[in-house]
Amino acid sequence: MAGPAGVGHTENWSSRFAFVMAAVGSAVGLGNLVRFPAEAGSNGGGAFVIFYIFCVVMIGLPVLLAETVIGRYGKSSAVDSVSKLARASGRSPLWAAAAFVGMLGAYFILTYYSVIGGWVVYFAGVFVDDMASAVSGGTLTQGAFAGQNSEDVASMLGTLHGNAEMMVAMHALFMAITIFVVARGVTGGIEKVAVWLMPTFFLLFLAITVYSMLTGAFTETLSFLFSFEPSRLLDPNVMLSALGQALFSLSLGSALMITYGAYASADTDLAKTSGMIGSADTSVAIIAGLAIFPIVFAAMTPDLLAEVLSGEKPVPQGLGLMFSTLPVSFQTMPGGSLIGLLFFVMVFFAALTSSVALLEASVSWASRQFNISRSMTAVVLGLMAFAIGAVASFSFNTLADFKPLPFGIFDGLELFSILDTVTGKIMLPVSALLVAIFVGWIADKRIINAQNGLSGGTLALWRFLIAWLCPLVIAAILFFGLFPNLIKG
Ligand code: PFF
Repeated sequence: MAGPAGVGHTENWSSRFAFVMAAVGSAVGLGNLVRFPAEAGSNGGGAFVIFYIFCVVMIGLPVLLAETVIGRYGKSSAVDSVSKLARASGRSPLWAAAAFVGMLGAYFILTYYSVIGGWVVYFAGVFVDDMASAVSGGTLTQGAFAGQNSEDVASMLGTLHGNAEMMVAMHALFMAITIFVVARGVTGGIEKVAVWLMPTFFLLFLAITVYSMLTGAFTETLSFLFSFEPSRLLDPNVMLSALGQALFSLSLGSALMITYGAYASADTDLAKTSGMIGSADTSVAIIAGLAIFPIVFAAMTPDLLAEVLSGEKPVPQGLGLMFSTLPVSFQTMPGGSLIGLLFFVMVFFAALTSSVALLEASVSWASRQFNISRSMTAVVLGLMAFAIGAVASFSFNTLADFKPLPFGIFDGLELFSILDTVTGKIMLPVSALLVAIFVGWIADKRIINAQNGLSGGTLALWRFLIAWLCPLVIAAILFFGLFPNLIKG
């Protein structure tokens, strides 16, 4: 059923709840649980958090509304929705490039996202194993990995990296589940997974956060995350990281929210729904910090913790925070085996609902474009993404020294990091920038205003943000992201 001003034909979410859960499921993922705490940790805690919230409100939410508006109007794949809106506005259908770049970006993210999804599955397996020995050894109330030394636990990620077969097998499993869900369709697959997994995710997330606050170093975490030196607030590097993270976390500039908006029914209030998606995603990112750092800090010696809090020593960064520091920290937490297992199951749920969205963006386009069934398209595109991801995963072993693009921001990066950089620093910002310009300046205002559910002052504010602030700020991220040397020093 098409909306009042909609053209084309597509499946609809069966309820607003399903739409919100699927969109929140796409937004909440490894970006919130792995990337946000790591970025906050390496960018001065509080300053990053404050600027991040600013970016979500001033840039993320307006672009999110713009993307869902385009989707609900077009009722088709992201690319077709933009070109329909362009035509109806008397403009060139080539504006569809805005969605095409984003869709390609989402596809490339999928290739490496699934590799990390595979690690999550692997670590869930490690904790299942550990729990089985804790049950048989009667050590369930003690820390995880009883009797193992912490260096061995810390090196589990490194060991996995050295084991190419295992890594590819886990990546294959994660991708197979993603393909299966997308192949079953919007209401039969994507929505079913979202309405079951996301509420379960929130329950687990709440339980782990409360546990972490009660048993971990909570006060230290608060002072780490929410106190800041005002000078760092104006540090351009901190600002750029916060902006990039906000786009990635809200799944913007990746054609996804256009794609999911196309399945929204005519009576869905898009402004309200965008607000809900944005606040859920941001709360999860910030609360993830409140869940992870108390566990990590509690496992540190008092001296090390003091050095970390005073900024003398950095907090463990990047993927190591979740897959190396955290497992070691569970060794000293009561009930560590069970909590560790629940933790990785929770991360798996979040990662799966995001990878499903990443694949759906291109499946919805390719199946129409080439007139192939959805399930066949999901299998073909999923297998291709699997192959690219498998090659990229060799960056952690045999291809560690293969750094094929020795220039600019790609200099010194292996394939895995190239995929992350080209998508996060180029494709997503370019797509979000084009979407903002398209909705702010090119598309017919009457069509846009009939879809967005805003009026009066909020409509005027949104129009200002999408036409002026968003393009300027996103163009700035893009520029400084490509030429980082200009702001160093
Ligand atoms: N928003 C997801 C996360 O935070 O993990 C990742 C993501 C999904 C990014 C889809 C981009 C995207 F198109």
